[in-house]
Amino acid sequence: MNPMKPSRITTGGLRMRRSLGILAFLMAASISLAGPSNSLMDVHPNGKTLIVANNDNGTVTLVDLVTKEAVREIKVGKKPEGVTWIGDGPLAAATLYHEQSIVIFDTNTGKIEKTIKTAAEPYGIVADAKGTRAYVSHEYPGLVSEIDLQEGKVLREIPAGSMVRGIAIAPDGKRVYVSEFYTGVLNAIDLASGKIVDSWKGHSTDNLARHVLLHPTRPKAYLGHIRSMIKIGDGAGSIFPQLSFCDLKPGEGRRRVAFGMDTFNSLYVVTNPWESAISPDGKRFYLIYAGTNDMNVCNVIDDDYKEVESAGYPTRTGQNPRAVRVSPDSKSVYVYNAMDFSVDIYNAQTMAVVKNIKTCEQPKTPEWVRGKILFNTANQPMSSRRWVACSSCHPDGLHDGRVWQQAEGLRKATAFVGMANTHPLHWSADRDEVQDFEYTVRSKLMQGIGFLKGQLKPKVGFHKAELEEKTSGRSKDLDAIAIYCNSLEYPLSPHIEAPGKLKPAAMRGKDVFFRKDVGCATCHSGPYYTDSSLTQPFNLHDIGTGRGDKTERMGTKFDTPTLLGIYRASPYLHDGSAKTLLDVVTMQNKEDKHGKTSQLKTDEIGDLVEFLKSLPYQSPPEVTPNTVPFRVQSMKKGDPAR
Ligand code: HEC
Ligand code: HEC
Repeated sequence: MNPMKPSRITTGGLRMRRSLGILAFLMAASISLAGPSNSLMDVHPNGKTLIVANNDNGTVTLVDLVTKEAVREIKVGKKPEGVTWIGDGPLAAATLYHEQSIVIFDTNTGKIEKTIKTAAEPYGIVADAKGTRAYVSHEYPGLVSEIDLQEGKVLREIPAGSMVRGIAIAPDGKRVYVSEFYTGVLNAIDLASGKIVDSWKGHSTDNLARHVLLHPTRPKAYLGHIRSMIKIGDGAGSIFPQLSFCDLKPGEGRRRVAFGMDTFNSLYVVTNPWESAISPDGKRFYLIYAGTNDMNVCNVIDDDYKEVESAGYPTRTGQNPRAVRVSPDSKSVYVYNAMDFSVDIYNAQTMAVVKNIKTCEQPKTPEWVRGKILFNTANQPMSSRRWVACSSCHPDGLHDGRVWQQAEGLRKATAFVGMANTHPLHWSADRDEVQDFEYTVRSKLMQGIGFLKGQLKPKVGFHKAELEEKTSGRSKDLDAIAIYCNSLEYPLSPHIEAPGKLKPAAMRGKDVFFRKDVGCATCHSGPYYTDSSLTQPFNLHDIGTGRGDKTERMGTKFDTPTLLGIYRASPYLHDGSAKTLLDVVTMQNKEDKHGKTSQLKTDEIGDLVEFLKSLPYQSPPEVTPNTVPFRVQSMKKGDPAR
């Protein structure tokens, strides 16, 4: 066993029950809610209909659970990441992650009743039992917004932590609980005061906690997440699937424990826990794994120690399960297989699939879909060990907030913003096609069999062998991964006045950026703010940032990164040595080798940072002289899938 591997139970021991606290919680919990935690699915309180958000299609599908048929597909907008019924319906609401808004729609008519402008990146949504208020987590701004569902307006924006995704409402409606995506921290927000009143920290390696679930009667929160072991590049040591339990009772004592789910099923490894559900009777716990297509079915144990016990061998799901819910009578379980574009209905007694219901057409192209499937899976041919998928470090093409200690040196994992136009790849420009990630698939990190026949040009030391080996056009699947990675979409910055229009400070900062004596635009040039080009020799620059890392093996010259979407990409620089954009242009540029900034006045620096935060303020062109062929072509503007 790897010594770095987190132990299965990190703390424990028998403890006296604080029975009074539990009693109070139980009394408060007498109302039970249909969908108290964020999800791409929500079951109607009467158990007769299910709504499913099709994240890549920009639609919500209504499923009749009596006839077990999809009834209606409703166009809602870009990237719905959460849905909820409003009270008893027929109205429901969905978050539009890429549109800074939520929509209220009528499930009977399919009509959008109201679009409510909100803060950026609305992710999860939960509604109170009466359907009067909704609470929305906003990832990048780190807020929870409170929405008056009758009036259709935002009442409050409550600071909720850093990069929050998961959200659940307490049974008594007095608190919401949110999870921080990149730390796994759970925060409790008291709705009366609008303040964070409690917090449960996990391990420093906890990562990608996008969901939080509450037990219907016991004071417990459940968080599925991973641990990112940034010093280890090994298929069985880099990423661990975890389940954390937080004790919500106030006061001291046993607050948070974590279980390693890779060993939960004996030798059968499961990874990338994505969402969990609990049966309304509180007895069964379900956890789905988006990386290996599995579901654990567990019995909830009322012991404050072991918490859950496996109720049998894991159940296989369809492709890339991303939502799980249970019927109000606890007799059926619903799993949304995001990359099959369908819902499986399970009989909770036998865990047999009763019906598979297609919810929408495939988005974009079959190659894009294939690429996304491969990108998300830790199964072969991507990996033999089942711990690590590409998406474990690049969730949906975003970064994972981590700086990895790789053999070549420290490397911040990057988001794939504008990648079809910003090749070459990697900070040191050692790859020139996404298909070169065949090397990653076959490496110690993933240990997959890969896609290409025979040997690849071997890597000797840190020689850039990938640049000499042509990997594109040799495998449909590998090309599909490239098409997916090169086709990820990203919205305009939330820091702008309107599309194409900068705020005054950013406008002044733009002038600073383009000033000759400052010189940012000599390297960060063109619509993607980079001089990256596939023309040999590549444009690499030593800007004085490469000397801090003693483990660096590829030299101090780096490829100019795009600045689009940089506002949400902290920490900055290849080694993550700058926490903020201000640090990039001040503390990390003392010698004026990274543009000339020492002559700038404080307010000019402030304006420059405001400009950086505003990128992109308009959509860059799809095609440039540096565009690669492997991408989804002719995506129409205005298509909700864009
Ligand atoms: C253990 C975490 C991890 C895993 C797993 C992982 N990556 Fe990465 N990825 C990184 C890091 C760190 C970087 C930055 C490395 C560098 O630039 O040298 C990176 C960079 C990239 C880039 C370059 C982006 C750019 O604009 O330069 C691409 C493309 C990429 N990864 C694709 C993949 C694919 C495809 C897979 C799966 C086969 C994968 N990654 C698996 C951590 C990971
Ligand atoms: C000589 C070319 C060059 C000039 C001039 C230049 N940059 Fe850069 N920039 C780079 C390179 C190369 C990197 C990556 C360095 C690293 O990661 O160590 C970078 C990184 C950055 C980053 C961090 C990006 C990330 O993803 O972490 C920001 C922000 C940035 N530059 C802004 C600016 C600003 C603002 C100016 C003008 C004051 C400027 N740059 C001038 C080449 C340049």
